[in-house]
Amino acid sequence: MPVYDLALCDVEFPDGRRADIGFKSGRIVHIGAVERSDEVVRCHGMLLLPAATDMHVHMRGGSQVKKEDWQSGTRSAIAGGVTLVVDQPNTVPPLTTQLRLENRVNEAISEACCGFAINAGVTPGADLISLWSAGAMAFGELFAGPSSYGETLSSDELSKAFQIIRNVNGLATIHAEEVGTSQPDTLVAHNDNRGDQGEAAAVRKVCQLNSTGCHLHFCHLSTTAAIEAVLEQRRLSTGPENKLNDSGGPCRTSFEVTPHHLLLSHQDFAPGDTSAKVNPPLRDKKNRQMLWNIWDLIDVIASDHAPHTVDEKAVSFLDAPSGIPGVETMVPLLLPEVQRRKHPVSSLIDKVSTRPCEVLGIPPAGFHPGERADFALYPRTITRVDPDELHSRAGWTPFAGLPAIFPELVVMEGGIIYRGGEFFNTVGRWFPGKGYPLVD
Ligand code: NCD
Repeated sequence: MPVYDLALCDVEFPDGRRADIGFKSGRIVHIGAVERSDEVVRCHGMLLLPAATDMHVHMRGGSQVKKEDWQSGTRSAIAGGVTLVVDQPNTVPPLTTQLRLENRVNEAISEACCGFAINAGVTPGADLISLWSAGAMAFGELFAGPSSYGETLSSDELSKAFQIIRNVNGLATIHAEEVGTSQPDTLVAHNDNRGDQGEAAAVRKVCQLNSTGCHLHFCHLSTTAAIEAVLEQRRLSTGPENKLNDSGGPCRTSFEVTPHHLLLSHQDFAPGDTSAKVNPPLRDKKNRQMLWNIWDLIDVIASDHAPHTVDEKAVSFLDAPSGIPGVETMVPLLLPEVQRRKHPVSSLIDKVSTRPCEVLGIPPAGFHPGERADFALYPRTITRVDPDELHSRAGWTPFAGLPAIFPELVVMEGGIIYRGGEFFNTVGRWFPGKGYPLVD
């Protein structure tokens, strides 16, 4: 009879089954009755879900440590059931050279508390090939529309970047928006200035610029118009008369939606509330409902965790930076909401855990052989989001007071790293991209 390192006893699995689960040497070795284990946790039917991978976070650090650093950001992730984060390269300065990427990886290795990957910055002068071989997970977000800490690339620059990324068989992640010329001073005006038709038009334009069939992943799509543009592209690229990529397969196009676009609308805030200023903007209630109507079509949910300090947000609407923190609240908010709306919990796991890994080409967390032994254990009780309980250095959340279920315990690589608000044996594990020399 094997002695396990860790046994979680009487857990409920996503399919409703109840059993014990035993871990040894970082892997699941048994699901059933576990009799002998060095550490035993009695779970009383709590829900055990594969841990989430958040493929769009801004962990800041460097000169932006007042907003966030790798330790605070990854602790925030873990406390929200996320064990792998993909960091965006619009740091200050941006990650557009091999040296900056290597320094960023080293910063994360010494500070991060969970798995991480880092994307390459795409600007006109960036050496994409050396960033790829230095271990970038993906490229971008490429800004096809300006944002906080992100300058727009021209059509020519975008199409050249797609060619290079296609040549290395990489993934281009895109921030697609068209921005009007007004100077918005309210959330409604901000929404109008970055409207749904502009978001859809930006998606279409980006697809047209992708003449070589590079895999495109659209970040934080916020409207059904933009999602319809992606689906249209997908239909086109898989139709017999349409282009195939060089290896003969269909050109892949995927997209993500954020929790804030699913759960918040601008009507929930005072007109000039800068805490809700984000790109793409919060939409109206009708649009939010329309996103839920197409829940089954959504590929990935990612938080776009973009922390700014209270002081930075406490300026005029026009001057306030866009972005909201959300890595810690993503799964806790969506879990009760998905259940309330009668969607299976497995559909949430697909979008926050399985599919992000599929898009990135890395093993997902899960119960099958070869999958990462990363899990989060959720109680049955619904609480409310309390900003004082969150771990991001930002120290605030636009989700305050909303119903949520936070994990009681988080397992990474078969060991407990978080339990009842405390962190144990946390370690930053780097997931380099496919271009990294040490990877097959
Ligand atoms: C992001 C940030 O703060 O880095 N802000 C945001 O509103 N989403 C940048 C970005 O992704 O646009």
